[in-house]
Amino acid sequence: EKGGYPHFMLKEIFEQPECITNCMRGRVNVNGDNVVLSAVIDYKQYLLNAKRFIIVACGTSWHAALIGKQMIEGFCRIPVEVEYASEFRYRNPVITKDDVVIAISQSGETADTLAAVKLARQHGAFIYGICNAIGSSIPRVTDTGSYIHVGPEIGVASTKAFTGQVTVLTMLALALAKEKETMSYECYRKIVKELHEIPGKMREVLKLNSWIADLSRTFTYARNFLYLGRGYSYPVALEGALKLKEISYIHAEGYPAAEMKHGPIALIDSDMPVVVIATHNGMYEKVLSNIQEVKARKGKVIALVTKGDDTISRIADEVIELPDTIECLEPLLATIPLQMLAYHIAVCKGKNVDQPRNLAKSVTVE
Ligand code: M6R
Repeated sequence: EKGGYPHFMLKEIFEQPECITNCMRGRVNVNGDNVVLSAVIDYKQYLLNAKRFIIVACGTSWHAALIGKQMIEGFCRIPVEVEYASEFRYRNPVITKDDVVIAISQSGETADTLAAVKLARQHGAFIYGICNAIGSSIPRVTDTGSYIHVGPEIGVASTKAFTGQVTVLTMLALALAKEKETMSYECYRKIVKELHEIPGKMREVLKLNSWIADLSRTFTYARNFLYLGRGYSYPVALEGALKLKEISYIHAEGYPAAEMKHGPIALIDSDMPVVVIATHNGMYEKVLSNIQEVKARKGKVIALVTKGDDTISRIADEVIELPDTIECLEPLLATIPLQMLAYHIAVCKGKNVDQPRNLAKSVTVE
């Protein structure tokens, strides 16, 4: 049932191109120039009239929410707040009938996310679910939603659900922007077209697997890892760090790259691997200077760069090349090598990758 793979996690990492194709089926048209989400058609009035979106989630799903926030705010000019469901439900938050609450949950059973949804419902908010498990508890209490359709995820470490969630959030932001006319048609077309090409580019990224397996052996000594990224890459840094800690038990922290000099830089020495997402986008120069700061303190830099970057390859210790895409879609590609890095480090250390200690696939108690 692992389809020839040694672990479900690796199988699920490799399924991502197909999962994202399934997630987009019937939603992104075959020409790659239009996005249709049935929830947006059916509940247009609620979604377009919302004064604010609040996204509630936990763990990896919360990281996807941070990416969704940037897209919904950027494309649709709707204010978005991202909340840990566990914090939101207990702090008497302001929720009104003008809010749309988006609940993101792979399992659809996470106790805190479910409780946050019920609380928001009591206050009259419109509830939109983004889930994977069909017919699970959260979709049953929402007003509408979009399934991510990535198939069952067995590995405790969430992989394909994350890219599925980000894909749905991208489609939601695009569909709303089109309705609200907050984005030029040219820009809309360009992003939809690129989204349509993501599964093919994911296949290219997956070819890095055996090389990342080799690279991972070099880093099993580490007791700490730092992950840095900016903008859309900041949640990717958080997600990379979470993957590493949950399956390899190496302490890892994700930070917005510019925050490094406000504290974490003190940790850097020759024993500290620093993973930097340094793709060729608006933040490139600034992230490049962060890499120089890490190198000046003898940190080991593993950089994720856009194919053809010859500046960072001269400075970083290890370079992982990604196909070019537009900035908002980079998380769909950049997350995959970080999943593979965490996976291989954990395997090298002999850890139980699919069922890490102390963790359950869905957290149905608080
Ligand atoms: O099923 P959910 O998406 O609600 O689960 C949320 C978290 O428990 C989950 O993402 C967890 O953080 C994963 N083990 C991370 O890989």
